[in-house]
Amino acid sequence: MKSALLNEYRRLTATSHGPAYLRLRRAIRSSIERGALEPGQVLPSERDLAQQLALSRVTVRKAIAGLVGDGVLRQRHGAGTFVAERIVKPLSRLTSFTEDLRARGLNPHSVFLEREVGEVTPEESMAMNLSPGAEVSRLYRLRYGADEPLAVERSSIPRAVLADPALVVDSLYEALEKLGCRPVRGLQRLRAVNFNAEQARLLKLPAGSAGLALERRSFLADGRVVEFTRSWYRGDLYDFVAELQSE
Ligand code: GLP
Repeated sequence: MKSALLNEYRRLTATSHGPAYLRLRRAIRSSIERGALEPGQVLPSERDLAQQLALSRVTVRKAIAGLVGDGVLRQRHGAGTFVAERIVKPLSRLTSFTEDLRARGLNPHSVFLEREVGEVTPEESMAMNLSPGAEVSRLYRLRYGADEPLAVERSSIPRAVLADPALVVDSLYEALEKLGCRPVRGLQRLRAVNFNAEQARLLKLPAGSAGLALERRSFLADGRVVEFTRSWYRGDLYDFVAELQSE
């Protein structure tokens, strides 16, 4: 068994109360966050963990099940429990949230916080090249990978492209594809941020936690802007990869 995990569990047991399965869950999570357990690494068996931590197997199973539900651990039949790989997002491809997560074997879904039609704000008008008074469809979504919310996302789409935001059942790009308006090119900006109180609450993180803010403007083949999206991703679960070429 990884001694780092054992030590972390002992430390938590000495300093905090509450059910043992929650302490074990926290010990595993923090061992992963500190790099003592690496993505892809196999965890000791339930039986070994129970023995070495002097816990019942039911307690160990409960701790692990919670982390599997959160997407932090994965189980493969017959092969045991692994630390989940992070969701690797290639920065240079114009893919959707749904596609990125499906590619990682997850089953993404969204909760709509708002879905409305309105007149462009000054910011949307500048970002989308729309005249004041033009109408946009807006989506405000909380986006999930497994059970845990991964990102908060605000999208604006010209009404000339998406007349009714209710056409987006779950994936924006799927809806745009059906309308023959899937973007072909995008400009994206990525920054490190600290979540504000609302974002932190929605993402179930302490206020001020670190995250990644993404802004994407994407275009149709004729140059029209099709979306202006701002996303705030949990920094601890997302991993962006950019492909670089010399020419
Ligand atoms: C990513 C991009 C957004 C885009 C979204 C579409 O999150 N950053 O700009 O709007 O994907 O995802 P989906 O089709 O799953 O709604």
